[in-house]
Amino acid sequence: MKLAARVSQVTPSITLAIAAKAKAMKAEGIDVCSFSAGEPDFDTPAHIKAAAVKALDEGKTKYGAAAGEPKLREAIAQKLKTDNGLDYKSENVIVTNGGKHSLYNLMMALIDPGDEVIIPAPYWLSYPEMVILAAGKPVIVQTDASTGYKITPEQLQKAITPKTKLFVLNSPSNPTGMVYTPEEIKALAKVVVDADIYVVSDEIYEKILYDGVEHVSIGSLGQEIFSRTLISNGFAKAYSMTGWRLGYLAGPVEIIKAASTIQGHSTSNVCTFAQYGAIAALEGSQVCVEEMRQAFAKRRQVMLDRLNAIPGLSTAKPDGAFYLFPDISKTGLKSLEFCNALLEAHQVAVIPGVAFGADNNIRLSYATDMATIEKGMDRLEKFVRSRI
Ligand SMILES: Cc1ncc(COP(=O)(O)O)c(C=O)c1O
Repeated sequence: MKLAARVSQVTPSITLAIAAKAKAMKAEGIDVCSFSAGEPDFDTPAHIKAAAVKALDEGKTKYGAAAGEPKLREAIAQKLKTDNGLDYKSENVIVTNGGKHSLYNLMMALIDPGDEVIIPAPYWLSYPEMVILAAGKPVIVQTDASTGYKITPEQLQKAITPKTKLFVLNSPSNPTGMVYTPEEIKALAKVVVDADIYVVSDEIYEKILYDGVEHVSIGSLGQEIFSRTLISNGFAKAYSMTGWRLGYLAGPVEIIKAASTIQGHSTSNVCTFAQYGAIAALEGSQVCVEEMRQAFAKRRQVMLDRLNAIPGLSTAKPDGAFYLFPDISKTGLKSLEFCNALLEAHQVAVIPGVAFGADNNIRLSYATDMATIEKGMDRLEKFVRSRI
């Protein structure tokens, strides 16, 4: 069979592949400690589930508007105003099948063949693939531990060409957990405005922050940057709703309209009754978000202390998300070799940094219970000590 050329240009998700392998080993009865999944281990809060059940019972089971239920679009616009200082109306918002799909819709709406999209590495692995699927050109800017894995304004400036259309900013970051300071965001915003390009700010981890660190949404820093900003966000991480597939894109009306047209011909609307769960998530008590954040904070400290006690690993302390990103270069192994050997010999699943454009690192998710963290760190320590 001759498949479309675009298929050979994209790589299947390594994260999903490793998570699937760990799951399959578990199903065979093997005692696997998995730190691979990018999802909270908590159940969706009860009041959110109840709102979706109620909507289902009330017959909210039909097609809806492609851009989302009007009440949810309004609730999102309100959230963006109160939480993020962004002056959007519902017409600036489209509800999508997860944060991932909001970014995909954006690439389809904005990127022409040959358009360049600047992506700092380490990056969330779907960004470059989505750009390629839109026939654009991902321009990867390498960062390292010396800048906290953050792109500097000078690096951004240097990467911009007449073909640059979009800059992808992700703070807090997957995979590093790093959070840009308000000053750093301000400096990047200036480069974006001066170059007259767009920025998409992926804020899906905005609620998962530690040690009093603040999240600043780049679009809130003035009218000039606001008009060039797209916000991608979703319900998966903050409200433990990964399987619900609920996210959104916010930005200038013309882009949102274009994304709605594309969505209208691909997925139509997001599951109607699920959207009522999202309304409850935004309008209900936020205590559940804080409780999960506090649990992540405890796990982060335990995992970080354990990693720092392993000679040969070097791990920066991140301020957000639920990942640690140790440098493994002293083991002499590249990330994929490291991950395969660790999984086969010690039954610990972690993600190779090569998937995120950083082959000297591995990503561990601490969105799992404390007992698994302790057991997994014992095994990881044994493995690393045997290598150095
Ligand atoms: C940085 C980042 N953006 C977007 C997403 C997409 O999340 P979802 O499509 O589940 O809402 C993820 C999920 O892992 C992520 O890590």
